[in-house]
Amino acid sequence: MESLGVLLLHPMNAYLEQELDRRCRLHRLWESPPGPAREGFLRAHAGSIRAVVGNANYGADAALIDALPALEIVASFSVGIDRVDLAKCRDRGIRVTNTPDVLTDDVADLAVGLAIAVLRRIPQADRYVRAGMWKAKGEYSLTTRFSGKRVGIIGLGRIGLAVAKRVEAFDCPVNYYQRTQQSYPNYTYYPSVVELASNSDILVVACPLNEQTRHIVNREVMEALGPKGVLINIGRGPHVDEPELVAALVEGRLGGAGLDVFEDEPNVPEALFALDNVVLVPHVGSATYETRKAMADLVLGNLEAHVLQKPLLTPVL
Ligand code: DGY
Repeated sequence: MESLGVLLLHPMNAYLEQELDRRCRLHRLWESPPGPAREGFLRAHAGSIRAVVGNANYGADAALIDALPALEIVASFSVGIDRVDLAKCRDRGIRVTNTPDVLTDDVADLAVGLAIAVLRRIPQADRYVRAGMWKAKGEYSLTTRFSGKRVGIIGLGRIGLAVAKRVEAFDCPVNYYQRTQQSYPNYTYYPSVVELASNSDILVVACPLNEQTRHIVNREVMEALGPKGVLINIGRGPHVDEPELVAALVEGRLGGAGLDVFEDEPNVPEALFALDNVVLVPHVGSATYETRKAMADLVLGNLEAHVLQKPLLTPVL
């Protein structure tokens, strides 16, 4: 792979960067600030950059692809490839890979962890102890049980199924929505997200982001979930109409939310900071040592397969 010119879009993983540096001709996009410096950098290396490595927040958009006439492959350090212009890649015959499977367990673990944290108010109880309130004021207020709650999952793909498997162990009935009904005898299918939300206590967003799923959780869905319902988003921020979510939480029309993703990361609506019924984490679904190493190895394996003209390990295109 020594001759492969690779453009890394953002610092994302030290091991990945070190291995790309060791095995390829690595260019770091962030070292040239946006504007004339970056345009000049891209012009200077356009002929030799054959691969782009991005992630959930930094993808290959139309402008970048147009600036790289020698581009052959986009290898994303993420399972979601909503930041990659797939239509353009298809037109240009550019291969695209992602990192499925290796992160499924971590993301599903986080979804369940967020749901329990919201209902049992774990972060708030932790703050109560640290602030000396237990000693000063006595017992913490009662919280809400997680076991047995009806869990509605939007998208029963790899991650959705892993969430279903986990919550079954908590005796939670599993409901789901996706475009086509699957044959899962233990899970109840609803043909719309509103019906799913009406019949669930906890709604988990676990589908890919695309034009059909943007704002799939809108005001109507939040109303259907109701003042005791909890929304868990481990998908993408734009799956949810965020201003509507903030309003529903502030006005008590939605019971709570556990959010790993936001519409404009790393900007999080400040109105959420004051709310006791939300748990917020900074897009860390796959962020464990084990999984990030496995994701990095998949990116490297895909690039190597491409160079050796072998089948890609995890092709999207
Ligand atoms: C991904 O890899 O697309 C997800 O954002 C993991 O959390």
